[in-house]
Amino acid sequence: MNSSPTERFRLDGQVAVVTGASSGIGRHCSLLLANAGAKVALASRNIKELELLAKEIVSAGGHAKAFHLDVTQQSSVTQCFTQITSWAQPTIVINNAGVSVTKSLLEQTEADWDRVVDTNLKGVWLVATEAARTMVATKTAGSIINMASILGERQINGVAPYAISKAGVIQVTKTMALELARYQIRVNAILPGYVITDLNREFLQSELGEKLRMRIPSRRFDEPHDLDGPILLLASAAGQGMSGSTLVVDGAHLVSSL
Ligand code: NAI
Repeated sequence: MNSSPTERFRLDGQVAVVTGASSGIGRHCSLLLANAGAKVALASRNIKELELLAKEIVSAGGHAKAFHLDVTQQSSVTQCFTQITSWAQPTIVINNAGVSVTKSLLEQTEADWDRVVDTNLKGVWLVATEAARTMVATKTAGSIINMASILGERQINGVAPYAISKAGVIQVTKTMALELARYQIRVNAILPGYVITDLNREFLQSELGEKLRMRIPSRRFDEPHDLDGPILLLASAAGQGMSGSTLVVDGAHLVSSL
C-alpha cells in the first residue's frame, strides 16, 4: 500500500544541513526539520548559539550537531562539509544564511555589495555545489532549498544589492535543478515576503512598517512558521516531483495591484 499523505511529509532517516541556523527563519526551520524526524547539521558562524540550539533539539528527543560555517569562504564551506559528512551524509540542504544592507543606491559601497552578494549569492552557490558534490559522490538523492525572496522578482527602495543577489539565487536554483536532475537531486527556491524575525521586527512594527503592511493584499506579515508547509513539501518525498520551482509565500504581495 502507498504511504499515507502525512507519512510522505516525514523526514525520518534524512540528514538536513541548515545554514544561518542560529536565528530567525534558520533556527525555526532547524526545529521544524528535527521535529519531522531529520538529523540536523546546524551550520553558521555563531557556534555558541548553535550548540544551545543543538542541546534544545537533543533534549526534545531529536538529533542535531553544531558546525562552524562562513558561507562566503570556499575553504570554510569545504571544511564544514568534511566535518558534516563524517557525522552523516546530508540529503537536505536549506541555504538560509543571508544579510541585507539598507541604504539608497547611491550610498551603497563596494564593501556593502561584497558583503551582501558574497553571503546571499556566492554563499548559496558554494554551499549548494559542495553539498551536491558529496551527494553525487555517494549516489545520494537529495533536496536543496534556497531561501530567495520576493525581492528577487520585484524592487523596493534601499536594498538594491539584496534584491540583485536574490534574483541571482532564483537563477542558481533553476540552473542547478537542470544539471542535477540526472543525479536525483532536486533544487527549489522559496520566495518569502516579509517574515517577522529579529532582523526586521523593529522596522516592521514601526510606522513605516505599518504603511508597508497596508500595501500587502493580505494585510499581514508572516511568521517563520508560515513557511513550514513549503519547507516540508520541498524537503520531503511529498514534493518528489518538484525541482526548479520557486514557491512564493507572501500573502499575495508579489501579485499586488499596480
Ligand atoms: P536572520 O538575520 O535572523 O538570519 C540570517 C542568518 O544568517 C543568521 O543566523 C546569520 O548569522 C547567518 N549568516 C549571515 N552571514 C553568514 C555567513 N557568512 N556564514 C554563515 N551564516 C551567516 O534573518 P532571517 O530573517 O531569519 O533571514 C533568513 C533568510 O531568509 C535570509 O536569506 C533572508 O534573506 C531570507 N528572507 C527573509 C525575509 C524576512 O522577512 N525575514 C524575507 C525574505 C527572505
